[in-house]
Amino acid sequence: MKVHENNNRIIGSRVEYIESTTSTNEYIKQKFDSGNLKNGLAVLASQQTKGKGFRNNKWESEAHKNITFSFIVYPEFLFASKQFVLSQSVSLAILDYLSSYSTGFVVKWPNDIYFKNKKIAGILIENSIQGEYLHDSIVGIGININQEVFSSALPNPISLKNITGKEFNIRKEFDKLLETINMHYLHLINTDLAVISESYLNNLYRINQWATYKTINGSFTGKIVGINEYGFLNIISKNNENLFFNFKEVEYVL
Ligand code: BTN
Repeated sequence: MKVHENNNRIIGSRVEYIESTTSTNEYIKQKFDSGNLKNGLAVLASQQTKGKGFRNNKWESEAHKNITFSFIVYPEFLFASKQFVLSQSVSLAILDYLSSYSTGFVVKWPNDIYFKNKKIAGILIENSIQGEYLHDSIVGIGININQEVFSSALPNPISLKNITGKEFNIRKEFDKLLETINMHYLHLINTDLAVISESYLNNLYRINQWATYKTINGSFTGKIVGINEYGFLNIISKNNENLFFNFKEVEYVL
């Protein structure tokens, strides 16, 4: 295993490059159980054999082609009730990184990164809470970089190579990404959280547009108008109802 230390950063203060693991989130969790980990420790794997996605989905990624990594942080300055802002900050960092290659990237609530109508990246955050505050967060990120062909089971994947026609050096891209996430994390520590939420809204897929959504009660037409402090999606329906949805309660109809 190769290790790299960088004391000028929180995120990526120590980076471990590993060949293969089940899931980098699980890898960090296991290490955590056997001792305290450095704030910002990141683990990049060339291959995951059991990558985890949001809502118990799988995360598929061809070996050596993409960025699949996790890091651990201790956001003890954040109220547990405000934990969604960490997700917003990480989403904005990924957008920032990707936007150096093209326009057209947006965040799809709660934490997917889209290029137009296609998904290029996903985030899986696992938080532990102590009292009223967050204690530690394991943040897992998958970004499709050089992969060109995807399993037909995935609804709408896309990679940076599909978009730009170029092949990327994964290590270099990873380093650039860490730098950007670190910058956004420092911003999260030092800024009014409302500023981060506002810029998340400014980059939100389908904000203020009429579209179709699905709940257990069926489909309806609505317009996303915001996100509340708990990260719930606020949709106004055609009948002028003001609705709030938690992560699992609503789906976008493409
Ligand atoms: C999603 O969009 O469903 C979230 C995907 C998160 C994937 C990343 S890849 C690195 C880390 N390890 C995992 O097993 N999952 C996350």
